[in-house]
Amino acid sequence: MINFLDLQIPVHPFKDDYPIDLLKEKRHIKINFEDILTEKFINLLDTLSIKVSLVESFYSPKSIIQPIHIDSKGGDYTKLNFVYGGKDSLMHWYKLKEGSNAISHITDIGTIYATYNRQDCIILESHCIKFPTLIQAGVPHNVTNPPFEDRLCISLFLRDKNTNEIIDMKNAIHRFQNYLVPQMGLEPTKPTTST
Ligand SMILES: [Fe+2]
Repeated sequence: MINFLDLQIPVHPFKDDYPIDLLKEKRHIKINFEDILTEKFINLLDTLSIKVSLVESFYSPKSIIQPIHIDSKGGDYTKLNFVYGGKDSLMHWYKLKEGSNAISHITDIGTIYATYNRQDCIILESHCIKFPTLIQAGVPHNVTNPPFEDRLCISLFLRDKNTNEIIDMKNAIHRFQNYLVPQMGLEPTKPTTST
C-alpha cells in the first residue's frame, strides 16, 4: 500500500492575507475553508471532482513525538497535507502486532481518532511531508519533530464532489496523476521508446 505521494500543484492553495502564523497558537484548529483556500485551488480540485470537507491545522513545537494513531475510524483514505517548517520532521506509518488494542479519543475540534501503544506497532516507512503531500490517514501513523524547528501542518480532508464519498489512496493517485512528483515506484509501466 502506498502511504504518501508528494505533489506539485501549479496554484497556491492559501490566500495571501490569511494569518497562517495565528494557527500556531493552538495545537489543533478547525479552519473555515472559505477563509483560507484560494479560488484557483478550489477550481483545480473541482476539475478532479474533489471537494474539501474539512480543513485543520496541526501545530507541533520542536522535539514533539505524536502518539501513534489512526484518524477517524481508520481504513483507507487520504488527506492532502501542506507543511510549513518542521525541518527533518518525519511522518511514520506502522503495522500492528496481533492483539493490539485501539484506544478511542475525541479531538479538540470534535473529530475522533484512536491511539495504539508504541510496543504494539512495527514501523513500515517514513517520509518528510512537503507542500503538499498526499498522505494515508487511515493506517497507524505519527509525526516526530526534531529539535531544530517547529512545524505547522495544514491538512485537507478530501471527498468526491458528487457522491461525497471518502477518497482512498488509489483513487487519489488516479485523480492527481498529472501532479505527482516522480519518485521510486512510480516508473512508467511501459518502457518509453528511445530515439
Ligand atoms: Fe493523523
